[in-house]
Amino acid sequence: MCGIVGYIGKKEAKPILIKGLKRLEYRGYDSAGLALLNHGKIDYFKGVGKIHLLEKDICKQNLQGTTGIAHTRWSTHGEPNQLNAHPQFDCSKKIAIVHNGIIENYSSLKKWLLKRGHSFISQTDTEVIAHLIEENYHGSFINAIRKTLSLLEGTFSLAIITTLEPDKIFVTRRGGPLIIGCCKNNEYLVASDPTVLIEHTKKVVYLEDNEIAILKIGKLEVLNLKKQIIKKEIKKIKYNLQQIEKGGFPHFMLKEIFEQPISLKNTIAGRAKNYQINLGGIKNHLQFLSKAPRIVITACGTSWHAALIAEYLLENLAGISTEVEYASEFRYKKTPIDKKTAYFVISQSGETADTLESIKKIKSGKGRVFGIVNTVGSSIARETGAGIYLHAGPEIGVASTKAFTSQLTIFLMLALLLAKINKKIKKSELIKKIESINKIPELIKETLKLNNYIKKIAQKYKKFNNFLYLGRGYNFPIALEGALKLKEISYIHAEGYPAAEMKHGPIALIDKKMPVIVIATDTEDIIYQKVLSNIEEIKARQGNLIIIASQGNKEIKKMANEIIYIPKSPDFISPLLNVIPLQLLAYHLAVLRGCDVDQPRNLAKSVTVE
Ligand code: G6P
Repeated sequence: MCGIVGYIGKKEAKPILIKGLKRLEYRGYDSAGLALLNHGKIDYFKGVGKIHLLEKDICKQNLQGTTGIAHTRWSTHGEPNQLNAHPQFDCSKKIAIVHNGIIENYSSLKKWLLKRGHSFISQTDTEVIAHLIEENYHGSFINAIRKTLSLLEGTFSLAIITTLEPDKIFVTRRGGPLIIGCCKNNEYLVASDPTVLIEHTKKVVYLEDNEIAILKIGKLEVLNLKKQIIKKEIKKIKYNLQQIEKGGFPHFMLKEIFEQPISLKNTIAGRAKNYQINLGGIKNHLQFLSKAPRIVITACGTSWHAALIAEYLLENLAGISTEVEYASEFRYKKTPIDKKTAYFVISQSGETADTLESIKKIKSGKGRVFGIVNTVGSSIARETGAGIYLHAGPEIGVASTKAFTSQLTIFLMLALLLAKINKKIKKSELIKKIESINKIPELIKETLKLNNYIKKIAQKYKKFNNFLYLGRGYNFPIALEGALKLKEISYIHAEGYPAAEMKHGPIALIDKKMPVIVIATDTEDIIYQKVLSNIEEIKARQGNLIIIASQGNKEIKKMANEIIYIPKSPDFISPLLNVIPLQLLAYHLAVLRGCDVDQPRNLAKSVTVE
């Protein structure tokens, strides 16, 4: 998804901007560009493709200046080409703008601007903003921006430079991500993502919707639409540079898979001990949460899969009826908002547009909504006001891995906390379950030892073009997540199903060419036996069976073409372990098929548009 970087200071801006764009690469993009203020004119470069390929061309150009903005574009309006890449300009090329988001009313604005004599060179919605500022400029640039903002509909973050006021960068947002970094030597950076800022500063200022910041050397001024000055607090980013670099791993995804014992330790730290569960971000809301007759969770992608497992956890452990909705569907449904229901949204990035909109819908119906978010200070974290941070650290690989296991662990703790308050669990049982939570990092570490073995399995199956994933109960959503991981990064067609649904359709697909991955770890109920019957049905149809089973289960090995043993664990912990070989399998298959694991085609890490 589009990324923004801006710099104002005393150093040459070009290398800082290029480095910033490289930090944003993981978000997914198809073209890029940058613009620098240079002695009364704007120098710029735009191109299609990856930054490391564009870098040579950028360096050949005489781009100079100590104030500049840059952009990675993920096309929404108009194909990826040089004209549509950002920066976009007004008619006189006095205003350069980079934009993240979508201007929904751009076509009516464009028609109006065309009638007013403006000429457009791109198909983008962004270009409209530059021309609108030009049209509204009557001597004060800030007034031109204010007027323009009043005309725009949609979500966006913007960084703008102009020869009309060359010692400044103007930035603003409505719904899009944007953070200002306050650096040494009176310099400022602006970025759509904290990963750009970290090597320069940990001191940041978050802009609220419709605030406009004016960045000058040594001065940051933030105004609202009425031009009143807003006093902003300087916040601190908590993670460090090492966390956003590959640290010897060939890909961020593999690094993040192997980071899970640590990320989960951080998720659990200080939150689950003896028979106490402390979730600080919701501690003032426990009365409401424990009395809520129903929980509704909205999310997208992998976060939605975490929500599906949360449904089992909250219903099985806390006895609270739970529903899960795709945020993209929920936002447009006529679902009545209920004041007694506890609404949760889950998001790794905290910037997913549909999830953000679902919060607005809940709030406008006077519902109470809580966030389960990884990125501190993100739009969703701020919009929800209360919730629980994952503390999983920055996740860079597009396919979510460590955030997912942290999301599951948060819901596990939440379910136990609500069970405790509502007296749905005995003290001895709670102590046992909390002990199990604290063992998760160690169990994951043990499970990760499978890596080389999974690589061998991937080698054997790399030429197959279809996979079926089956699981039941807590592990049905793991089947969905395994299939999603494979699709996302290896472009192999894969489907996840609840194992018993197989006979209602997918069974027709099973033959020698269809590897079937069945999650069949031990359960405390009858589910394991039921999965065994499903395995028999596949075997009878000569399906290639890759079975994930609990360590020590010798029986099941006879039925499997490949057996993957997972450390024994209680069944409510099992999804956390079972997803590990599926993350690894997707990773190795993708690498063996020559795919770009960290930046899969057409995907973005943070989907900030609808
Ligand atoms: C994109 C990412 C997925 C992610 C989904 C939801 O599609 O590629 O990995 O699961 O967005 O993102 P969120 O940040 O809201 O969890």
